[in-house]
Amino acid sequence: MSAKGEVLVEVRDMCKNFGVTVALNHVSMLIKRGEVRGLIGENGSGKSTVTTIIAGIQQASSGDMIYRGKPWKPQTSLEAAREGIGIIVQEMGTIPSITVAENIFLGDYSRFLNGPLINRRKMNAEAAAALEKIGVTDIDPSDITAKYNMEQRKLIEIAKVMAHDPEMFIVDETTTALSEKGREILYHLMHQAAADNKAVVFISHDLEEIMEHSDTLTVLRDGNIIDNIDKKDFEPNMIKQKMIGREITGNYYRVDTDGYGDEVVLKADCITTMQDLLCFNLELHKGEILGIGGLSECGMHTLGRALYGLEDIVDGKVELYGGKVTVTTPESAFKNGMGYVSKNRDTESLVMNAPIGANISSTGYKKNRGWGIFISDKKERRYEQLQVDSLAIKCTNVFQPVRALSGGNKQKVVFGKWLAADSDILILDCPTRGVDIGVKASMYQLIYDMKKKGKSIILISEELPELCGMSDRLLIMKDGEVTGEFFRSDGFDNNQLIDCMI
Ligand SMILES: Nc1ncnc2c1ncn2[C@@H]1O[C@H](COP(=O)(O)OP(=O)(O)OP(=O)(O)O)[C@@H](O)[C@H]1O
Ligand SMILES: [Mg+2]
Repeated sequence: MSAKGEVLVEVRDMCKNFGVTVALNHVSMLIKRGEVRGLIGENGSGKSTVTTIIAGIQQASSGDMIYRGKPWKPQTSLEAAREGIGIIVQEMGTIPSITVAENIFLGDYSRFLNGPLINRRKMNAEAAAALEKIGVTDIDPSDITAKYNMEQRKLIEIAKVMAHDPEMFIVDETTTALSEKGREILYHLMHQAAADNKAVVFISHDLEEIMEHSDTLTVLRDGNIIDNIDKKDFEPNMIKQKMIGREITGNYYRVDTDGYGDEVVLKADCITTMQDLLCFNLELHKGEILGIGGLSECGMHTLGRALYGLEDIVDGKVELYGGKVTVTTPESAFKNGMGYVSKNRDTESLVMNAPIGANISSTGYKKNRGWGIFISDKKERRYEQLQVDSLAIKCTNVFQPVRALSGGNKQKVVFGKWLAADSDILILDCPTRGVDIGVKASMYQLIYDMKKKGKSIILISEELPELCGMSDRLLIMKDGEVTGEFFRSDGFDNNQLIDCMI
């Protein structure tokens, strides 16, 4: 019988290099049965690297691992899963073009072979059982995965990991993709595993969340283990300081109650979309930060997409600058000075195989003209480097493909690309997703600077503190409708806001 406190996985003196980048520098750690081990560190500190090596997705440059007392060197994630180590990856972990059941049993189809044919009925039934095991009943295993949204796909991935009854599973920055309900499912699975003397590694940038749900915390900085801390010693400022290596001073959010202009720069005039929105009205003013909050499914993400021309608007219209322009497509939005940071960065905002620089300057060709119609290389490099510096994007140079960046650093590229474009109207959907606390603070400052310059911003977010910290005016949505409107000048009352959400 395996006992609580017994070492389940040991990482010994592990290094991982990518060319000149040192992602892990002699990392050693013990993961014990019966614990939820939190892993925290700035963007690019090595969290995903060490956990993907444990889970067989990639291999270390040097060092050893021991699992259940034996040497451990999985060559694939499937091998690791079969042996009891699963991972819910930071990026999308399902393939959109195949069915839900095929994703859940990817690499394991042989179980369902009936002669040369796959017994689909059996596979679908087992997939349904796997989903039900984690409490999800509204996903049909025979559907193509692409039909489902980001959160549902994460739940499919969770079901896939749990279907193997893992001895240990890793949760890499997953909760930012989940609604409250999805989070509860995941927390429950994590604590259940710990209670069963299994182990969980939990990665999150949300300090409060990680402190609440972990028994011990390991802090990583620049590929080095800085400390291991027991729950009884958790203290937010101490943890932040260990992560960043210096004390964070200054204000996180703006402290003023400055107003905004009267001019309406964007107006949603009774817009109706295929899903979620029915005759929805909204006005955004010059120099305004308009927050939009609610539970994940309240329609706010659809709204963001619709305003930028990414959703079919079946009735009503989105007008800019007092009706001078109507937004019909993302191209028309962009041409007329709009920018949009999508919640779903991997598929909607970045070209993974293209260089960091090209991703950033993709919005800036007008500004980087040199002579006549030609782009000036020099201007373009300067334009790109400015973003890399101001957001501290951790990379070797702007020619590196975006694919090589850590999750949070990818998010910084998306933000930087739109910041650089100097758009007059910016729609930001969960812009700080997966970004570490230090950079979050600079993103808030940059958003505020834009307001000061007279730009107008819509900030869609699932985090109330962020909304209250930044918005001039705040709309709360529920079931596709605005259920409350609040003003910074009156002060925001959390309880009132929450009442409007549920
Ligand atoms: N395939 C790769 N090629 C080159 N460099 C890489 C690659 N994968 C990771 N790196 C680098 O290794 C370092 C550690 O990255 P890792 O993804 O482990 O960070 P992280 O702690 O998970 O960050 P985040 O919080 O942003 O997800 C980063 O500097 C990253 O750019
Ligand atoms: Mg990561």
